[in-house]
Amino acid sequence: MTRIVLSSDHAAIDLRQALAKHIEAKGYVVADIGPTTTESTHYPKHGEAAARQVASGEADLGIILCGTGQGIMMAANKVQGIRCGVCADPFSARMTREHNNANMLSIGARVVGESLAVEIVDAFLDAEFEGGRHATRVDMIKAIEG
Ligand code: RB5
Repeated sequence: MTRIVLSSDHAAIDLRQALAKHIEAKGYVVADIGPTTTESTHYPKHGEAAARQVASGEADLGIILCGTGQGIMMAANKVQGIRCGVCADPFSARMTREHNNANMLSIGARVVGESLAVEIVDAFLDAEFEGGRHATRVDMIKAIEG
Protein backbone atom coordinates (compact mmCIF):
# COMPACT_ATOMS: atom_id res chain seq x y z
CA MET A 1 0.00 0.00 0.00
CA THR A 2 1.54 3.31 -1.07
CA ARG A 3 1.94 5.76 1.80
CA ILE A 4 1.60 9.48 1.11
CA VAL A 5 2.73 12.16 3.56
CA LEU A 6 1.20 15.63 3.30
CA SER A 7 2.23 18.88 4.92
CA SER A 8 1.86 22.61 4.28
CA ASP A 9 2.20 25.99 5.86
CA HIS A 10 -0.70 28.19 6.99
CA ALA A 11 -1.44 29.33 3.42
CA ALA A 12 -2.67 25.92 2.33
CA ILE A 13 -4.48 24.27 5.25
CA ASP A 14 -7.88 23.93 3.56
CA LEU A 15 -6.50 22.73 0.25
CA ARG A 16 -4.15 20.25 1.96
CA GLN A 17 -6.99 18.77 4.00
CA ALA A 18 -9.21 18.49 0.91
CA LEU A 19 -6.41 16.75 -0.98
CA ALA A 20 -5.76 14.40 1.95
CA LYS A 21 -9.41 13.26 1.82
CA HIS A 22 -9.24 12.83 -1.94
CA ILE A 23 -6.02 10.81 -1.77
CA GLU A 24 -7.39 8.61 1.00
CA ALA A 25 -10.53 7.98 -1.05
CA LYS A 26 -8.26 6.79 -3.89
CA GLY A 27 -7.05 4.02 -1.58
CA TYR A 28 -3.69 5.40 -0.43
CA VAL A 29 -2.50 5.42 3.16
CA VAL A 30 -2.30 9.09 4.12
CA ALA A 31 -0.27 10.75 6.85
CA ASP A 32 -1.36 14.38 7.06
CA ILE A 33 1.23 15.88 9.39
CA GLY A 34 -0.33 19.32 9.58
CA PRO A 35 -0.36 21.99 10.74
CA THR A 36 -4.07 22.20 11.53
CA THR A 37 -4.50 25.87 12.43
CA THR A 38 -4.16 28.90 10.17
CA GLU A 39 -1.74 30.53 12.61
CA SER A 40 1.24 31.92 10.69
CA THR A 41 4.07 29.40 10.49
CA HIS A 42 7.28 28.79 8.51
CA TYR A 43 7.17 26.63 5.39
CA PRO A 44 10.77 25.28 5.64
CA LYS A 45 10.07 23.21 8.73
CA HIS A 46 6.94 21.67 7.23
CA GLY A 47 8.68 20.90 3.94
CA GLU A 48 11.57 19.34 5.80
CA ALA A 49 9.30 17.25 8.04
CA ALA A 50 7.52 15.67 5.07
CA ALA A 51 10.76 15.26 3.11
CA ARG A 52 12.43 13.43 6.02
CA GLN A 53 9.58 10.89 6.03
CA VAL A 54 10.02 10.26 2.30
CA ALA A 55 13.81 10.11 2.53
CA SER A 56 13.67 7.62 5.41
CA GLY A 57 11.13 5.39 3.65
CA GLU A 58 8.44 6.02 6.24
CA ALA A 59 6.39 7.44 3.35
CA ASP A 60 6.65 6.48 -0.31
CA LEU A 61 5.67 9.88 -1.73
CA GLY A 62 5.08 13.36 -0.35
CA ILE A 63 2.72 16.17 -1.29
CA ILE A 64 3.45 19.58 0.16
CA LEU A 65 1.84 22.97 -0.22
CA CYS A 66 2.44 26.60 0.61
CA GLY A 67 1.13 29.81 -0.96
CA THR A 68 3.08 29.44 -4.19
CA GLY A 69 4.48 25.95 -3.68
CA GLN A 70 7.94 27.41 -4.25
CA GLY A 71 9.37 27.90 -0.77
CA ILE A 72 8.28 24.57 0.64
CA MET A 73 9.59 22.82 -2.50
CA MET A 74 12.99 24.46 -2.05
CA ALA A 75 13.14 23.32 1.58
CA ALA A 76 12.16 19.73 0.71
CA ASN A 77 14.77 19.54 -2.04
CA LYS A 78 17.52 20.26 0.51
CA VAL A 79 16.92 16.83 2.06
CA GLN A 80 19.15 14.14 0.55
CA GLY A 81 17.26 11.83 -1.79
CA ILE A 82 14.35 14.19 -2.40
CA ARG A 83 13.24 15.18 -5.87
CA CYS A 84 10.33 17.57 -5.49
CA GLY A 85 8.68 19.38 -8.40
CA VAL A 86 6.34 22.34 -8.03
CA CYS A 87 3.44 21.91 -10.45
CA ALA A 88 0.51 24.08 -11.48
CA ASP A 89 -0.72 21.80 -14.26
CA PRO A 90 -1.38 18.06 -14.63
CA PHE A 91 1.06 17.60 -17.55
CA SER A 92 4.02 18.78 -15.47
CA ALA A 93 2.87 16.64 -12.56
CA ARG A 94 2.81 13.54 -14.75
CA MET A 95 6.15 14.32 -16.36
CA THR A 96 7.92 15.03 -13.09
CA ARG A 97 7.30 11.40 -12.18
CA GLU A 98 7.70 9.82 -15.63
CA HIS A 99 10.96 11.60 -16.46
CA ASN A 100 12.36 12.95 -13.18
CA ASN A 101 11.21 10.19 -10.81
CA ALA A 102 10.00 12.87 -8.41
CA ASN A 103 9.17 11.50 -4.99
CA MET A 104 7.48 14.70 -3.86
CA LEU A 105 5.02 17.14 -5.41
CA SER A 106 4.57 20.75 -4.36
CA ILE A 107 1.46 22.82 -5.09
CA GLY A 108 0.73 26.52 -4.57
CA ALA A 109 -2.60 27.00 -2.83
CA ARG A 110 -2.65 30.64 -3.96
CA VAL A 111 -1.95 29.58 -7.54
CA VAL A 112 -4.42 26.79 -8.27
CA GLY A 113 -7.96 26.09 -7.12
CA GLU A 114 -9.10 22.84 -5.58
CA SER A 115 -10.39 21.18 -8.77
CA LEU A 116 -7.14 21.79 -10.61
CA ALA A 117 -5.11 20.71 -7.58
CA VAL A 118 -7.02 17.41 -7.55
CA GLU A 119 -6.18 16.89 -11.24
CA ILE A 120 -2.52 17.68 -10.54
CA VAL A 121 -2.42 15.19 -7.66
CA ASP A 122 -4.13 12.51 -9.75
CA ALA A 123 -1.68 13.02 -12.61
CA PHE A 124 1.24 12.73 -10.18
CA LEU A 125 -0.04 9.64 -8.37
CA ASP A 126 -1.20 7.81 -11.50
CA ALA A 127 2.12 8.24 -13.32
CA GLU A 128 5.13 5.91 -13.16
CA PHE A 129 8.81 6.52 -13.72
CA GLU A 130 9.78 5.44 -17.25
CA GLY A 131 13.40 4.57 -16.43
CA GLY A 132 15.74 4.03 -19.39
CA ARG A 133 17.47 7.22 -20.53
CA HIS A 134 15.63 9.10 -17.79
CA ALA A 135 17.27 6.89 -15.15
CA THR A 136 20.70 8.01 -16.42
CA ARG A 137 19.68 11.63 -15.91
CA VAL A 138 18.13 11.05 -12.48
CA ASP A 139 21.35 9.27 -11.47
CA MET A 140 23.19 12.42 -12.55
CA ILE A 141 20.97 14.46 -10.22
CA LYS A 142 21.76 12.02 -7.39
CA ALA A 143 25.49 12.35 -8.12
CA ILE A 144 25.29 16.11 -7.54
CA GLU A 145 24.22 15.35 -3.96
CA GLY A 146 27.53 13.58 -3.43
C1 RB5 B 1 3.52 32.75 3.18
O1 RB5 B 1 2.99 34.03 3.18
C2 RB5 B 1 4.16 32.46 1.83
O2 RB5 B 1 5.35 33.16 1.69
C3 RB5 B 1 4.39 30.97 1.66
O3 RB5 B 1 3.18 30.28 1.79
C4 RB5 B 1 4.96 30.51 0.33
O4 RB5 B 1 4.24 31.06 -0.75
C5 RB5 B 1 6.40 30.61 0.17
O5 RB5 B 1 6.99 30.20 -0.83
